[in-house]
Amino acid sequence: MGRKTVLVSGGAGFIGSHVTVELIEAGYDVVVADNMSNCDLTCFNGVKEITGKKDIPFVEMDFCDLPAVEKLFADFDIAAAIHFAGFKAVGESVGDPMKYYHNNLVSFMNILTVARRTGKCNMLFSSSATVYGEPDQLPVIEETPRKDAESPYGNTKRICEDILHDCVKAYPEVKGIALRYFNPIGAHPSALIGELPRGVPNNLVPYITQTAIGKRECLSIFGNDYPTPDGTCLRDFIDIVDLAKAHVCAVERMLKGKMKKDYEIYNIGTGHPLSVMDLVTAFEKANGVKLNWKYAPRRVGDVVAIWADADLANQELGWKAERPIEETLRSAWAWEKRLAGK
Ligand code: UFG
Repeated sequence: MGRKTVLVSGGAGFIGSHVTVELIEAGYDVVVADNMSNCDLTCFNGVKEITGKKDIPFVEMDFCDLPAVEKLFADFDIAAAIHFAGFKAVGESVGDPMKYYHNNLVSFMNILTVARRTGKCNMLFSSSATVYGEPDQLPVIEETPRKDAESPYGNTKRICEDILHDCVKAYPEVKGIALRYFNPIGAHPSALIGELPRGVPNNLVPYITQTAIGKRECLSIFGNDYPTPDGTCLRDFIDIVDLAKAHVCAVERMLKGKMKKDYEIYNIGTGHPLSVMDLVTAFEKANGVKLNWKYAPRRVGDVVAIWADADLANQELGWKAERPIEETLRSAWAWEKRLAGK
C-alpha cells in the first residue's frame, strides 16, 4: 500500500505546523491548506527545513469557500483530514460572535461535506478543554459533562463536536475523532517553528517569553485569590510536540481500522496541574532569566482549575505526554530568542 495523504487545514499555524512535522516524520504525505488569516509563512518554511521536504503541497485557501474545498479534494486523494482552520481568540469572539460562528462552523461543515462525498471521511477535529467549562470534578474525563460555553469561541468547539458526532451516527462513511486540547505550550526543539501571536498575546507563555525578551514590560498574573494552593489558576500545560504526536496516533488509529467506536473523544493533556505561578517560576528556573511580573485582577471568563485525566488517550491511542516542563519552557524561550534574532 502506498503512502497515505493527510490534509491539515490551518496547517501553517502553531499547532498545525507541529502536527505536519510529526505526520511527515511518521511517513505520511501531508497537504497543508491555510488562508493565512492568522499567520505568515514562517512556520511552513520551518516545517520544510525540519523535515528536509521542500515539496510539501501548500494551498492558500479559505475553508468557507466551498468550491475551493471541492477543488482541494479533487486535486488530492485525501485519506484523513485534520481540521485546525478556525479562529481562536476567546475575547474577540465575545465582541464579534458572528465572525466566529461563521468561520468556525462553515469551514467545518464544508470540509465534512466534501470529504463525505469521497466515500471515506476520516475527520479529526481539534477541540478544546474549554468544552468542560468550570468542571465540578477534577481531573476531567471524557465523559465529564460539558458545560454551557463561556464564549462564542468555546461554543463553536462544542457545536463542531456535535456536528461530527451526528454525522458519524447518520453516515456510515464518516468516522470522527475529537481531540480536546488542554493548554498547548512550547515550540519545536529546533526552534524553527513555534507560536507567532499577532499583537499583544492573550495566552500565558507567549506573554512570558515576550516579557523576558523585553517586548512587554511586565507580565500580569490574573488573580491571586483563587481557591488554589497559591491563589493562581491551575492548568494542564501540554508540550506542543507531545500534543502533535497525539494526532499521529489518532490518524493511525483511524486509518488502520482500530477505532472501537466510529466517534471517539480524547483528552490531550499531561494529567498534572500546574499553577500560573508554578509556570512562571519554572520558566525562570529553566532558562536562568528573571521575569518582571505583578499580580493583577482576575481575567473575566477564566476557569479556576482544569486538568485532564489522560488515561483514555494513554491506553487507547498509546500516547503519553513525555517532554518535561523545563524542556518545554526552554524551547519556548529558544523560539522567542530566534524570532528576536538573538
Ligand atoms: N494568564 C495570566 N496572564 C496572562 C495570560 C494568561 O495570568 O498574560 C493566566 C490566565 O488567567 C489563565 C492561565 O494564565 O489562568 C492560562 O491562560 P491562557 O490564556 O494561556 O489559556 P486559557 O487556559 O485561558 O485558554 C486556553 C486556550 C483556549 C481555550 C482555553 C480553555 O488558549 O483556546 O484554554 O480550554 F479555550
